[in-house]
Amino acid sequence: MSTIVFKINDIQYEADGRYGPDVSLNEFIRNVADLRGTKVMCQEGGCGACIVAVRAPLPPTNEIKLFSVNSCLVSILSCQNWEITTVEGIGNRTIGYHEIQTRLAKFNGTQCGYCTPGWIMNMYSLYESKNTKVNSKEIENSFAGNICRCTGYRPIADAFKSFATDADKSLLNKLQDIEDLGFFKSCAVKCTQDNDWCILDKASNNEIIAIESGNHKWFKVYSLSDVFKAIEGCHDYKLIAGNTGQGVYHISGYPKNVIDIFNVSELKGYTIDVNLILGAGMTLSDMMDVFIKLANENDDFSYLKEFHNHMDLVAHVPVRNIGTIGGNLYMKFVNNEFPSDLFLLFETVGAMITIADAPNKSDTVTLIDFLKLDMKGKIIVNVMLPPLSQCCFVKTFKIMPRSQNAHAIINAGFLFKFKHDQGILEKAKIVYGNVNPKFVHATKTEESLKDKDPFADDVLKITLETLYGEIDPDTAPPEPSSEYRKLLAVSLYYKAILSLCPETKIDKRYRSGGDVIKRHTSKGMQSYDTDESVWPLNKPVPKLEALVQCSGEGTFANDLPSQTNEVFGAFVTADVNPGSVIAGFDTTDALKIPGVIAFYAAKDIPGKNNFTPINAILNSEEEILCSKDVKFNGQPVGIIVANREKIATNAAKLVKIKYESISTKKPLLTVHDVLMSTEKERISLDKMVEPTDIGNDVKKVISDKVIFESQYHYYMEPQTCVVKPSEDGFEVYSSTQWLDLTNIAIAECLNVPVNSINVIVRRVGGGYGGKITRSSQIACAAALVSQLQGKPCRFILPLQTNMKIIGKRAPTYCKFEAGVNGTGEIQYLKINYYQDNGCSKNENTSVITVTHLPNCYESKRWHIEAYGALTDTPSSTWCRAPASTEGIAITEIIMEKIAHELGKDAIQIRQANMKKEDNPISELIEQLKRDSDYETRLREVEDFNKSNRWRKRSLKLMPMSYELFYFGPFNSLVSIYHADGSVVITHGATEMGQGVNTKVAQVCAYILGIPLEKVSVKPTTSFTSPNCMPTGGSIGSECVAYATMKACEILLDRLKPIKDKMNNATWKEIVAEAFISGVNLQATYMYSTKDPIKSYDISGVVALEVEVDILTGNHDVRRVDLLEDTGRSLSPEIDVAQIEGAFVMGLGYWTSEKIVYDEKTGKLLTDRTWTYKPPGIKDIPADFRIYFRRNSTNTLGVLQSKATGEPALCLAAVITHALREAVRSARLDAGYEDNWINIENPCTTEKIFMAVEHKLEHFKLK
Ligand SMILES: Cc1cc2nc3c(=O)[nH]c(=O)nc-3n(C[C@H](O)[C@H](O)[C@H](O)COP(=O)(O)OP(=O)(O)OC[C@H]3O[C@@H](n4cnc5c(N)ncnc54)[C@H](O)[C@@H]3O)c2cc1C
Ligand code: FES
Ligand code: FES
Repeated sequence: MSTIVFKINDIQYEADGRYGPDVSLNEFIRNVADLRGTKVMCQEGGCGACIVAVRAPLPPTNEIKLFSVNSCLVSILSCQNWEITTVEGIGNRTIGYHEIQTRLAKFNGTQCGYCTPGWIMNMYSLYESKNTKVNSKEIENSFAGNICRCTGYRPIADAFKSFATDADKSLLNKLQDIEDLGFFKSCAVKCTQDNDWCILDKASNNEIIAIESGNHKWFKVYSLSDVFKAIEGCHDYKLIAGNTGQGVYHISGYPKNVIDIFNVSELKGYTIDVNLILGAGMTLSDMMDVFIKLANENDDFSYLKEFHNHMDLVAHVPVRNIGTIGGNLYMKFVNNEFPSDLFLLFETVGAMITIADAPNKSDTVTLIDFLKLDMKGKIIVNVMLPPLSQCCFVKTFKIMPRSQNAHAIINAGFLFKFKHDQGILEKAKIVYGNVNPKFVHATKTEESLKDKDPFADDVLKITLETLYGEIDPDTAPPEPSSEYRKLLAVSLYYKAILSLCPETKIDKRYRSGGDVIKRHTSKGMQSYDTDESVWPLNKPVPKLEALVQCSGEGTFANDLPSQTNEVFGAFVTADVNPGSVIAGFDTTDALKIPGVIAFYAAKDIPGKNNFTPINAILNSEEEILCSKDVKFNGQPVGIIVANREKIATNAAKLVKIKYESISTKKPLLTVHDVLMSTEKERISLDKMVEPTDIGNDVKKVISDKVIFESQYHYYMEPQTCVVKPSEDGFEVYSSTQWLDLTNIAIAECLNVPVNSINVIVRRVGGGYGGKITRSSQIACAAALVSQLQGKPCRFILPLQTNMKIIGKRAPTYCKFEAGVNGTGEIQYLKINYYQDNGCSKNENTSVITVTHLPNCYESKRWHIEAYGALTDTPSSTWCRAPASTEGIAITEIIMEKIAHELGKDAIQIRQANMKKEDNPISELIEQLKRDSDYETRLREVEDFNKSNRWRKRSLKLMPMSYELFYFGPFNSLVSIYHADGSVVITHGATEMGQGVNTKVAQVCAYILGIPLEKVSVKPTTSFTSPNCMPTGGSIGSECVAYATMKACEILLDRLKPIKDKMNNATWKEIVAEAFISGVNLQATYMYSTKDPIKSYDISGVVALEVEVDILTGNHDVRRVDLLEDTGRSLSPEIDVAQIEGAFVMGLGYWTSEKIVYDEKTGKLLTDRTWTYKPPGIKDIPADFRIYFRRNSTNTLGVLQSKATGEPALCLAAVITHALREAVRSARLDAGYEDNWINIENPCTTEKIFMAVEHKLEHFKLK
């Protein structure tokens, strides 16, 4: 039997007919090779968690190359002759760590660590493939496909840029400083491997390999004639090149025959006759190399520089490394709506495409004709790009919702061919993508431009009108609105003209409108004091787990090695309008699939069908599996059990749900919908605060409405639970922030005692609140399967399921009215605040929002009504800084609006309303103004705006006072080993990246007076830390640090008599003696709210400078200075990381992260990486400076520290003010009145652009 032969970390594997085409390299690495370091999340090339390095001989030269790939997109049968290296393969505890691993750890580039292996392997591939010669810009540009939700990217970027040939001196100094602290031994693995370790043949015998696997036959072919041999007689086949297309259009099932053409040599390489002929099998990375080479060498192809820059925005490096030209164009062929950038570029210059239907029979057609062909039995062989004379100008654009790795909102290509020396056009080509599936050329406009001077104002005017008339975008949610796409397309034409127009014909203020925002390589600065007298407390140390996270040795719930007999569960979801009523299920089709074992519904639950047992925090029951009335579109109603994860996921889609009735009622998806409906019972008044004072000097009344939308937590580790039957019940490995809830919910669901459920959490791959209560639903489902099957069960939510069933940040609707005096001092303020709770009241925080609303201001005159509203969406959940984000943002908008209405400076208005007593904000504002050079930069911004019509900058400042409150209990159990005096801690909080273990270890070492290296922290379990509260609200670290401190003090008390007896004895000697004397060397303490640590305020101020491209709506955060009061930080580097990560998550919330539901059905439309866009590495502030308040202490908190996990997120709302100010400047230039501007939240590219209210007559040259 034929096999596919490859190596993983130098061990040879063979894949034969046991593996179908749907078994990915990722699945093989994790489940067959049992290498759990490589992670997986989106399974569609959008997150980077799964990246590995590949060394393989590639045609046409068969030179051996090293490149990164997304292992989730590669079929294992594609891996013939590959040598794959995973994160464990480059360094580990046994062989020593690789310098890339140690350096990322040293720079604190890991938090939860789930994304880390992907980053490491992408960097490793880049570094090795470039023979270690790589500069900072290239490094920063190469991680578009790696998402990190925790760190805010800055420390990762710093760590990697320290390898650059042009590494900034400050980074090298920082590296030296960290190394001087001596936390890590120097690395044992050479940075560059010798090339001769590749033992695979450069190319094997190149004979067709055919692998039969049950329903499929896989052909690996090396020549065009073999492609046709394989196609011959097949009706049912699919060609596969890089197979990355499945990241865009998911493959629900492979046909009978799959033909892997990735190594077909005739499709590779390029030649130039007159044209440039690119083999269709050429990868996008190789194509870009050719573009840059030819652009520099050959004037006729100088336009390829523009193409290269455009391609840099297409997908990301690992996709481009194997994704091919042919694959991309064929995707456009099948799915005309696909905004293919290749199609756009090629069509702009009139490229031709060669299609073969036999080895020696081919036709060359235009790309437009290609779209109309019957491609059955045919293959794309090459694309021919023409040379262009010096009379031609090419300009292309791709406008995206974030800086990189997103498909185009609109992409555009313009070619202007001028008549020789005449200044008028011979022809113009105007091509757009993502207008509508049939739209390619703006033909009428192209026609109208013939023999015209495009740089004449009158021609421009008519052209824009013609263009506006003929661009006809469809409405295709969640794509941005048709109005935006239409005007954007026109604006891009104007942009092209601005960029190409001769100097003499253009007002120089307009010129910068022709460019897209060019971002400089980012940099950061962190400023804090550290008090060496209390070290290891307050010492900047890397995370305890940083190295094992960087090597993939740190484990998550789903990293438990494969278990004998294990099964997988997947939710069946009710994808119907809320209000539909379930009658039963038809499982015939699902159960027919080989590997499917069972189906369970609500009736199979032996105990309570509820994953939110009522307690101090939760007040509503929520069903694990919906038994009858569907509450939201996508609610789980059943579970399919199978012997493979993918089989379970696919089979779950085949279960037919029978309904007693299917609702056709339009769901109520927002607070506004509810307020407009007759269903007022959905609204409840949760809290009212009456004013205790009122002013009588009302000069102006200001009112408005504020709407904030939702945010997906975007933890990189999906909701996961692995349950194993044990001798006394079940072992539960859950990705939960709340073990106690998980414990109780499972016990009640299975109807077993709580003490038979052992919940174990080593670490969680990001939670941000989304794994506090929701994780228990997945845990109950996994436990149910495990109990009913008597087998271990893994339950991992696929991204789409995760996004649709898990509630997100609670949206906000708020109305306010303020009466102010002439200086802006509030005389009265009425706030009616509504929180969108989704379908249950659980996790309602409207009452807490009330406490955050005053921010740093005097609120005696404020009347606040806080309501909760039930909508037909999943129950809203806490999402990092819940309630505070919303409360503070509302108040800050009020301050900004008062300032605007009175024509005053917003900082003055803030000062006028500032709380007088015990408020350090004014002092902090002054400090930050000085540190950030605020006044000078304000003037620079003004000057810039005067000289630029289409680029606008703004600099805004915003204060925050975040009231931190405690809840408990949380325990800590500290044990000392008598043999060597080493100490072990286990505590009741969940380590999810916030560094709780490191802080706790520092506190322990400090109190006991021992070196930090003596302390280790074990997983959290429900049997050593029962009855603890969820880790969240920034306080988990504080509370367990406190509990640890108290437990250590108990131990010290017990040791004191021994110590006093022994003169100058060492710690080890004291412990040994204590053991002999029968001293109990283990102590536990349970923190409760009765303990004397008290609520306190966390103050902060931020100044943010942004630049907006007014012609597209794109923006760049140029600089952020953020000052926060951290008290005497327990661990400064960890707190810096918390602040940066929170702030960047906030930037995402206010800008690119838009949740869209289908209005008629309530279906979530933004449920993928393709449609939902958290910030990437090039979306962070280009200059990011963090300052801790100097000489700060805190008598109320733990060991004088303050919490840092959430507050900085609240400060990110400053970006909305900065964007508004930039738009305001553009509107004033356009002649609009100086009205208050409401940019809808989130301030996406669309909303920014639309707020400008462009008119065609604004687009002129003089
Ligand atoms: C995360 C992500 C982001 C992306 N962003 C963008 C983007 O912004 N812009 C953009 O344009 N693209 C984007 N893409 C698409 C990417 O460019 C394509 O996935 C890639 O080019 C497809 O190449 P492939 O070789 O992997 O195709 P495959 O997945 O192997 O094949 C795709 C289709 O093409 C067919 N096919 C392949 N080769 C041939 C051939 N020679 N002749 C005939 N049929 C063939 C296959 O049968 C299949 O139907 C993105 C993809 C991902 C995963
Ligand atoms: S899991 Fe492969 S890119 Fe997300
Ligand atoms: S550390 Fe990157 S996602 Fe958590």
